[in-house]
Amino acid sequence: MKVCVVGTGYVGLTTGVSLAFLGHEVTCVDLDQAKVDMLTAGRCPIYEPGMEDLLAEAAQNLTFTTSYADGVPGADVVFVAVQTPSAADGSPDLRYLRSAAESVAQALDHDFTVVVNKSTVPIGSGNWVDAILRDSFKQRENRPAGTEFAVASNPEFLREGNAIADTLYPDRIVIGSDNPRSLEVLNRLYRPIINQTFTPPTFLSRPEDVNAVPLVSTDLASAELIKYAANAFLALKISYANEIGQLAAKVGADITEVARGMGLDQRIGSRFLQPGVGWGGSCFGKDTKALIATASEYNLEMPIVKAARDVNQRQRAIAVERLQDELRILKGRKIGLLGLAFKPNTDDLRDAPALDIANSLLARGARVKLHDPVATDRFRVEQPELAPYLSPTIDELFADCDAVVLVTEWAQYLELDWSKFVGLMRSPILLDGRHVLDAERMRRLGYKYLAVAG
Ligand code: UDX
Ligand code: UDX
Repeated sequence: MKVCVVGTGYVGLTTGVSLAFLGHEVTCVDLDQAKVDMLTAGRCPIYEPGMEDLLAEAAQNLTFTTSYADGVPGADVVFVAVQTPSAADGSPDLRYLRSAAESVAQALDHDFTVVVNKSTVPIGSGNWVDAILRDSFKQRENRPAGTEFAVASNPEFLREGNAIADTLYPDRIVIGSDNPRSLEVLNRLYRPIINQTFTPPTFLSRPEDVNAVPLVSTDLASAELIKYAANAFLALKISYANEIGQLAAKVGADITEVARGMGLDQRIGSRFLQPGVGWGGSCFGKDTKALIATASEYNLEMPIVKAARDVNQRQRAIAVERLQDELRILKGRKIGLLGLAFKPNTDDLRDAPALDIANSLLARGARVKLHDPVATDRFRVEQPELAPYLSPTIDELFADCDAVVLVTEWAQYLELDWSKFVGLMRSPILLDGRHVLDAERMRRLGYKYLAVAG
């Protein structure tokens, strides 16, 4: 099938490259010429394991361009995956989405095109995009006769760092539209994934237990709500583990053991119960906020979702309080933060806990030193005010520190020879922000081991 993807960020790029890999003919449109040039040369502008390999394997079906006219005409499906950042008042800024939808409408030329919105938007935006498309199409001079289109929702569940596996071997695919023909088109588009009939990429074999992927085919509003309901649930599952973690610390229980014991109940499940400084990233914060905002338009409170957000924010503050309790005075102290990305295997810094923790320490007069194995280039561009605090090596990060916090559990950090660094510190306080280090071992090595809970 002929596919066009507008926006080559984490979501758009993964969608485009994966569909090309499956044999569809894909054109990716992005306004950023530098990105288009990089991608055309086979290089990936974001850090995502496997993406450059998949780009190479899919190259024959893939084109990158800055022009809508190169991708939209003739497309069976157009995905719109441009950014929807939060505006100052917290509501999503839909400017880019509006302008992308208008540009799509100006280029549509096919007997039937499904326009799928992949950007995270408030529930009900499918109808909004539909209205923009129709208005803009109507205003077009020389409209091609016989051009029809419909809007569908196809929520994204991929995790950064795992994007390709999550796309090719998902737990489910959700499609939603009030137009039956759109659902048929999307069903056809995703057949190779639903039936798992494709030959896996050379670097990513099919997990043994994946032989068919359930398809949830529903109306537009339900599909839109599934995305929010699922993401908010995952966010609140983590916040629940973190809330229990605070009580565990008081009563002398080990939250890691508690979470393990809970998670083995299959009704609960062990994933997304990892306690620590909490969630960040582009989705959980934005999606929970949007869910609350949408509900309020209907005079509905969402107390559980609100609490999940509050608890998450509190975890970041607790990390700083733990340091203050231990050091008594933060002013003038040197604190090293290991890990800046909001989670391992990505260079994404959106809503990363490390940023809040660093800023809060600085506001209290501490000095910070920062390190990340992958995200520093992006960090310099996006956080110029914090960039001077970057340490080029792990040795330099530890040197003279009064405390070090493990904020992002990169594998590189877990595999460090931890015995090497304790001697470099002014005082050997180690705050494990992700509850991933072996506390006993760290204590034996001479660290004063602390966790966010307990
Ligand atoms: C996407 C969604 O935008 C976001 O709402 C959701 O929460 C997660 O998925 P992501 O793919 O990470 O986020 O977006 P981002 O990295 O910001 O990339 C968007 C791309 O669209 C950029 O490459 C940008 O240059 C491009 N773009 C934006 C266009 O090509 N045209 C535009 O009009 C606007
Ligand atoms: C998330 C959703 O998982 C995905 O389905 C959705 O489409 C986009 O948002 P992503 O933000 O890429 O994906 O990462 P995810 O792996 O979900 O982690 C989110 C945050 O939660 C990270 O900051 C991570 O460190 C944190 N986390 C995750 C925990 O604190 N504890 C856990 O047990 C799991």
